[in-house]
Amino acid sequence: MKKTLNLSLIALLVVVGLIACKKEGAAAAGGEMIKFVTTQDGSPLEIKPELFDTPAAKEFLKTGKNPYVGNDDAIKQGKKTFQLYSCTQCHGADAGGQVGPALTGPDFRYPKDATNKGMFETIWHGTNGGMGAKGKGLMDPTDPANGITPDELLKIIAWLRSHGSATGNES
Ligand code: HEC
Repeated sequence: MKKTLNLSLIALLVVVGLIACKKEGAAAAGGEMIKFVTTQDGSPLEIKPELFDTPAAKEFLKTGKNPYVGNDDAIKQGKKTFQLYSCTQCHGADAGGQVGPALTGPDFRYPKDATNKGMFETIWHGTNGGMGAKGKGLMDPTDPANGITPDELLKIIAWLRSHGSATGNES
């Protein structure tokens, strides 16, 4: 009787210890972070936190809000990156749609794209219906340096939002 009690006490201590370690790990990684999911099936999407390497990208990782929306310099750079990565070929020079759909809203094929977090996930990891992943290390898996960084992607999204009245930061 005493032995089983001891054993369950040890088991309890181990569990408590594990929970404490996990908490410490999360805090070491920089505290609060939003959780990404894929647009394909909503499963968890891991993106290395160290890729979020600018103040704006760090802010986005914490809050899901895109600080570049409404920022003229960021919007200009976003437009350039949109051309550089050939988004124009499928979505048109002004993102009004070509082979791919228009990206200017307010309606989207994937309703989550009305939010900046949702659109980030869609562009980073792609869709099932003809849009490949564009995130860093995903676009061309044989070339890990290739692909869009989180900071560049936030600027692209800021440019896309500049076409409509919604900021994507509303909710
Ligand atoms: C090869 C053609 C192609 C290229 C290049 C491409 N896309 Fe797409 N994109 C598509 C297609 C096709 C869809 C529709 C996918 C679907 O229905 O699943 C799409 C969907 C999207 C959506 C979702 C739109 C919605 O209504 O929900 C976003 C956002 C998007 N693309 C952004 C981009 C960005 C940014 C780039 C450049 C980095 C890019 N795309 C490059 C073909 C392309």
